[in-house]
Amino acid sequence: MSKKSKKNTDNRSSRVDWVLVERVLSSELIRSVYLYGPPGIGKSYCAYYKGRIGQGVYACTLTEETPAAELRGCWFPSGDGFVWHNGPIACAMLEGARVVLNELSHASDDVLAFLFPIIESPETARITLPTNETISPAPGFSVIVTDNLPPDDLPPALQDRFETVLEVTEPHPEAVERLSPDLRKLALRSFALENDRRVSLRGWLMLERLRPEFGLEDSCLVVFGAERGSQIHDALHFQLRGEEA
Ligand SMILES: Nc1ncnc2c1ncn2[C@@H]1O[C@H](COP(=O)(O)OP(=O)(O)OP(=O)(O)O)[C@@H](O)[C@H]1O
Ligand SMILES: [Mg+2]
Repeated sequence: MSKKSKKNTDNRSSRVDWVLVERVLSSELIRSVYLYGPPGIGKSYCAYYKGRIGQGVYACTLTEETPAAELRGCWFPSGDGFVWHNGPIACAMLEGARVVLNELSHASDDVLAFLFPIIESPETARITLPTNETISPAPGFSVIVTDNLPPDDLPPALQDRFETVLEVTEPHPEAVERLSPDLRKLALRSFALENDRRVSLRGWLMLERLRPEFGLEDSCLVVFGAERGSQIHDALHFQLRGEEA
């Protein structure tokens, strides 16, 4: 996306813990959040399940190929004519629901331009649909973006529209709780490693699922591959033996 914008050097993101993320997602005062951090730590999960979700949650994962029409809505053939179907953003605006946009850094210019009048204060947020209906957000509408990257490469005016930019780096504690104690101990150590050596929470959760059926050694191999899998298996084996002794 650097092709389309100048980098904004005014970095206003804060590194925060999940308690604050959940407070932000619960607040009626905050309607747009940009949440970013490493893969598999629970950003999307948190955006789908935590905070103000009583009026529903719509979700989209964006790629360069996603057209704005997919978010706004489009005409579908019906009988001899066409009927209009609102897309997730139009639905969320009308219903005062939350819309979660995953991977905004991959979005096309088309989608970014569409978001300008949406991520706005309620007085000025509005879009006119191809049906000629003009809609503005019902109370409760919010936009939560999750991404691996900070918003630095978004157009500055779009960055400016996010009411808060939050960075999280640790896996959500409830996700870590799903691991049995022996895996959890090693997983927590692995999260502290450098990014390129860090083992993703998704991998640990998968290992937890497979272990009863495949046994520890084969699950490590299947989930992490030969080299990493044998290192993790050895570390777990060593840890278990240490605990027995
Ligand atoms: N709070 C939680 N409670 C239970 N399980 C969770 C929680 N958070 C995350 N998980 C588990 O961890 C997995 C990864 O979480 P999620 O998909 O939200 O990661 P992410 O940070 O959005 O990753 P990415 O950047 O790759 O999209 C989920 O599929 C889910 O199984
Ligand atoms: Mg995600």
